[in-house]
Amino acid sequence: MNTPPRQPLLQIQGLKKSYRKRPVLKGINLNIFAGETIIIMGPSGCGKSTLVRCINRLTEPDDGHIIFDGVEVTSLPFAQLSGLRRRIGFVFQQFNLIRRLNVLENVTFALRIYGQEKAEAEDRAMQALARVGLKERALNFPAELSGGEQQRVGIARALALEPQLMLWDEPTAALDPILVSEVIEIMEELVRQKETTMLVVTHEVGFASRAADRIIFMDHGIIVEEGPPDVVLSTPQSEIAKKYKKLLQT
Ligand SMILES: Nc1ncnc2c1ncn2[C@@H]1O[C@H](COP(=O)(O)OP(=O)(O)O)[C@@H](O)[C@H]1O
Ligand SMILES: [Mg+2]
Repeated sequence: MNTPPRQPLLQIQGLKKSYRKRPVLKGINLNIFAGETIIIMGPSGCGKSTLVRCINRLTEPDDGHIIFDGVEVTSLPFAQLSGLRRRIGFVFQQFNLIRRLNVLENVTFALRIYGQEKAEAEDRAMQALARVGLKERALNFPAELSGGEQQRVGIARALALEPQLMLWDEPTAALDPILVSEVIEIMEELVRQKETTMLVVTHEVGFASRAADRIIFMDHGIIVEEGPPDVVLSTPQSEIAKKYKKLLQT
């Protein structure tokens, strides 16, 4: 007997977005299956952030469909967006921590909004902080942490939701080169554990070659190439993929 075809966790079909009539996403099609780690690479301004932000409607798409776990995200009424965002963790380039809240409060904030009891939320937050090695810093404020530590709090905040999908928008791009590796190490550990599906925008080509199931190359609002890292980084077809291959060799 044939097994039924596996449904993707996330389907993106014909996604379009323009800013002031200037097209930024020109029809993106992408399927992501549960457990996959997908890495998006491409030059600055090509639409990567716009794409990942459309997935949980931080940015409103103009056209096309986004279907997450069988639910049409693009037509969800505003009131139902928080339910969606509880299942999709987001790690921002600029960390986006709340400066007047301590680390623990930053991590519990969303859990509390989504209705979790204080004690349970703190328990989950401490577990998430332990996973990023920051349990001892729970009562510190963001300004008392290094950039790498702040981003690890950002990761813990997303992990505490126990999301089905984690979106990462250039999580190491705002960090000193010396601090990049501490964040990359945590990301690689999360990929190894395979408990959540990951969609990561990054220029870290070494990380991409080790962690990705597939790399998606974007340029000027379209996907120009995609495939497993050992294929696209050894025999790249597009100009963009060729540039990343060169980076890997330097
Ligand atoms: N809110 C916005 N208003 C107007 N233009 C925007 C906005 N956000 C992004 N853009 C433009 O859209 C293009 C794609 O941006 P973005 O998705 O951030 O690219 P990337 O993340 O690949 O660097 C860029 O030219 C950027 O200037
Ligand atoms: Mg961006």
